[in-house]
Amino acid sequence: MNKKTVIANWKLNGNRNQIINFINLLNRDSVKINKCLCKIIIAFPTLYLDLAQNMITNKNVFLAAQNVDIHLNGAFTGEVSINMLKDIGIGYVIIGHSERRIYHRESNNIIANKFKIIKDANLIPILCIGENKKGKKLQQTKDVCKKQLDMILQLCGPLAFQNTIIAYEPVWAIGSGKIPTLDIIQDTHAFIRTYIVNYSSISTEKISIHYGGSVNEINIEKILQQSDVDGVLVGNASLNYNQFIKIINIINMI
Ligand code: PGA
Repeated sequence: MNKKTVIANWKLNGNRNQIINFINLLNRDSVKINKCLCKIIIAFPTLYLDLAQNMITNKNVFLAAQNVDIHLNGAFTGEVSINMLKDIGIGYVIIGHSERRIYHRESNNIIANKFKIIKDANLIPILCIGENKKGKKLQQTKDVCKKQLDMILQLCGPLAFQNTIIAYEPVWAIGSGKIPTLDIIQDTHAFIRTYIVNYSSISTEKISIHYGGSVNEINIEKILQQSDVDGVLVGNASLNYNQFIKIINIINMI
């Protein structure tokens, strides 16, 4: 069985103490985590990534940033560059999250440029895509995903999605307690995989597609049983260590 990846997105949550406690518990449970069939990637707020990087002792636990700028350096007040993330040993960057698309007006074009800058630096982008409530109602899920992938394929070429992570995150499912039916999750993931394979020469198993949006300890088992789901992106349920480790334990038993 392939290792499943669990990505924890802390968004704008947590403080120094909470993060230190969380990592101490992760380090304490290292032996258990190392035996498990999953890889863990945690996206703490950028400010705490360096601290986290210095504390984590487990080789199965990696860190992600929640954003990156499209510039490498210069007069861009408030931004963080890919070189800075690389400098402190961060391996992954989440981009295209609906909260950035909505609240920061990030277009497919900006996201494609971020994707490129991450790949050029040899870090791994975690690209979030997915339809909003209106798109769901109009049954436009596949069209929306296609459009969100196209800009990246055009800018980065047919091999763009080699060694990257895609997260299918229906916007309406995020933080709502609702998820699509399992058939829809499987069907959408299979569509994304086939669409990329048809565009490029990447082999099917080299494309990593995760599901995100209201994942918790109750629904995770069924979600991960879908054949095209390679992992999950967890928001709320990753903030509390007990809840998070329950998810990891469930993956261990699947
Ligand atoms: P949620 O968030 O698990 O709280 O729905 C997921 C996400 O936004 O990535």
